[in-house]
Amino acid sequence: MPSVTQRPLRSRRSNLAVPGSSLKMIDKARGLGADQVFLDIEDAVAPVAKPEARKNIVSALNEGGWGDTIRTVRVNDWTTQWTYSDVVEVVEGAGANLDAIMLPKVQSAEQVVALDMLLTQIEKSTGLEVGRIGIEAQIENALGLTNVNAIAAASQRVETIIFGPADFMASINMKSLVVGEQPQGYDVGDAYHHILMSILMAARAYDKQAIDGPYLQIKDIEGFRRVAGRSAALGFDGKWVLHPGQLVPANEVYSPRQSDYDHAENILDAYDHFTSEAGGKKGAVMLGDEMIDEASRKMAMVISAKGRAAAMTRQQKWETPGA
Ligand code: GLV
Ligand code: MG
Repeated sequence: MPSVTQRPLRSRRSNLAVPGSSLKMIDKARGLGADQVFLDIEDAVAPVAKPEARKNIVSALNEGGWGDTIRTVRVNDWTTQWTYSDVVEVVEGAGANLDAIMLPKVQSAEQVVALDMLLTQIEKSTGLEVGRIGIEAQIENALGLTNVNAIAAASQRVETIIFGPADFMASINMKSLVVGEQPQGYDVGDAYHHILMSILMAARAYDKQAIDGPYLQIKDIEGFRRVAGRSAALGFDGKWVLHPGQLVPANEVYSPRQSDYDHAENILDAYDHFTSEAGGKKGAVMLGDEMIDEASRKMAMVISAKGRAAAMTRQQKWETPGA
C-alpha cells in the first residue's frame, strides 16, 4: 500500500469522462483501455439525475471489472448543495473500490482541505486506510488559477491538477468558439500558454500530475491531436477523453516515442556505469555523439518514468562496455 506521503506515479495519459447517469456508458467504459475513468456526478449529469447517478456509481465500482484502470469520481463543487452528499454516499458506499475524488471549480486551498477532512472522517468511520483516496483538483476559473500553487500544496492527497478549458473560457470571457483552440479571427498569441504553464509549474513544484481537459469536437481527431500535442509538448501528463475515438490518440500523444524511451533508459544505464568505480568515476561522458551528465540523467528520468508507467519496454539496449 502506498504511504500517505509517497503516492504512486500512475499513468494518466487518457482520462475517460463517463456520465454517472448512464449505466450503458459506465458498462462500456470498462473495456476501453483508458488509463483512468472518471465517473461524473457534475456537469454531465442533470440536477434531477444526480441522486441516481450516485447510486449507479457505487454499484459500478463495487461490481468491479475495472482492471488496472484508475477509478475516479467527479463530485459537484463546494458552491453547490450536492458536494457533501456526493462524497459521503460514494465513499461510504464504494470507498474501497475507488482511487480518487475529482473536485471541480476549485478556487482555494481551503476547498481542498475541506474535502481532505471529509474523506478522512469517512475513512476512519468505515475502517478504510486513511489517506489512500487521492484528490484531483480542477482549475476552471481565474481565482482557481490565481491560487493554483496553494491548491497543489494543500494536501498530500492531491494527485493531479486539471485544466477545465470550457468553464475557464466562460469564466474569463475568452472569445473562442472551439475549446482549446485560439479565439477565432484574433491574433492573441497562444491564448492558453499562460494557463497551461501556471498549472504545469504548480504541478511540478509539488510533484503532481498536470492533466489537460476536454476537446469537445469529438469527431475532429486532428484537432484533438493538435491541442493534446501542445500540452504534451509542454510536459503535461495526459488529457481528458470524451469519446472512444479520442482514446488511442491520447495514449499515443502522451507516451514517449519508442526511440526516446529507449534512449532515456540507455542514458540511465550508461550514466550509472560511467559514474561508478568500475566505469571510471566520470561525471560527464560521451554516449555516441552526445555528451551526458547529471542533467541528462534528470531529463532521462522524466521520459523513463512516463514510459515505465505506460508499461513500455526497451527495444534497443545499450551494452555495458566489457560486460
Ligand atoms: C471541464 O470540466 C471543463 O469545464 O472544461
Ligand atoms: Mg468544467
